[in-house]
Amino acid sequence: DKGNHRHFMEKEIHEQPEVISHTLAHYVDFTTGRTKPLELPFDFAKLDRIAISACGTAYLSGLIGKYWFERYARLPVDIDIASEFRYREMPLSKKSAALFISQSGETADTLASLRYCKGEGVPIGAVVNVRGSTIARESDVTLPTLAGPEIGVASTKAFTCQLSVMAALAIHAAAARGTVTEEEERKLVKDLAEAPRLANQVLRLDRQIEKVARELAHYKHVLYLGRDTNYPLALEGALKLKEISYIHAEGYAAGELKHGPIALIDENMPVIVIAPHDRIFEKTVSNMQEVAARGGKIILITDEKGAEKSTIDTMDTIVLPQVPEIAAPILYALPIQMLAYYTAVFMGTDVDQPRNLAKSVTVE
Ligand code: M6R
Repeated sequence: DKGNHRHFMEKEIHEQPEVISHTLAHYVDFTTGRTKPLELPFDFAKLDRIAISACGTAYLSGLIGKYWFERYARLPVDIDIASEFRYREMPLSKKSAALFISQSGETADTLASLRYCKGEGVPIGAVVNVRGSTIARESDVTLPTLAGPEIGVASTKAFTCQLSVMAALAIHAAAARGTVTEEEERKLVKDLAEAPRLANQVLRLDRQIEKVARELAHYKHVLYLGRDTNYPLALEGALKLKEISYIHAEGYAAGELKHGPIALIDENMPVIVIAPHDRIFEKTVSNMQEVAARGGKIILITDEKGAEKSTIDTMDTIVLPQVPEIAAPILYALPIQMLAYYTAVFMGTDVDQPRNLAKSVTVE
């Protein structure tokens, strides 16, 4: 049932504050500010590596997880697209654990990767949305996302719930490894707990984003740029836009611009820059300057401080509230989902059932 919404995708986008809150509550204790104890088949303190593999949007949540595990828990992460991982014959040390991320829990390549790791004798955790799915059953521990059923082919609420689990796990790992103090752990949990409330605020930008989408629908090519955790979000923005609006979109790490894609820049290819005012904001601004100098049109997704500090002329600027660093990827996922959604609505595509795609990819 779509309720008052035109599409399941729209409904699922709007469910995010609630399902993120449910998911976080499963992993962190909002009153004590600590992560909840987890029964894991490994000890984070004794690991020297985690291998993550997944497909599509789930893979991109893992890529953001890598930044968090490495930054907060000082734990190196190898991350792969499952269809590559399963044939790559990666050596896994005795001190590794493997994590698989899947909404459906049935994705063929992700399952095959899980079985490869099982064969290597590595402990296995699965971040899945569908309880009782094959991936959930075959793993040593299931780390559920509590997104509820996701009907739209484009993954939205499952993605932000996957991010919520990855963030909570990274804090858990950091606490276990002693790379954060108890006080820092509490601060991270408190910051993360802000996500549902802030998500409600971000969703109120929908009318403005709809206007931006009306313009975006006139273009055939779009480039997304971001640095740090905004780089996987740039990839996710491009994936979401192409899958439901059929507009050709690519995501790049902003620093890669001058290594090739800058040759594409002209007035016919808008560049969507995801850049909250964070530690590398200035670097991204210099990439925007390079785009502007070549006649490129910029849609900037930033926060109040970022909007104030950037002096570059943009086609549009979407301004989010200031958000804590660890909650940012969850919150910046929302405008890119809404932008893809409204653009597809203007294009008149079948938003919930885009052509050639299946919700769960159970064949190779
Ligand atoms: O069910 P899974 O999470 O394993 O599915 C993985 C991908 O097929 C999925 O995320 C796909 O990329 C989405 N349609 C993207 O919106």
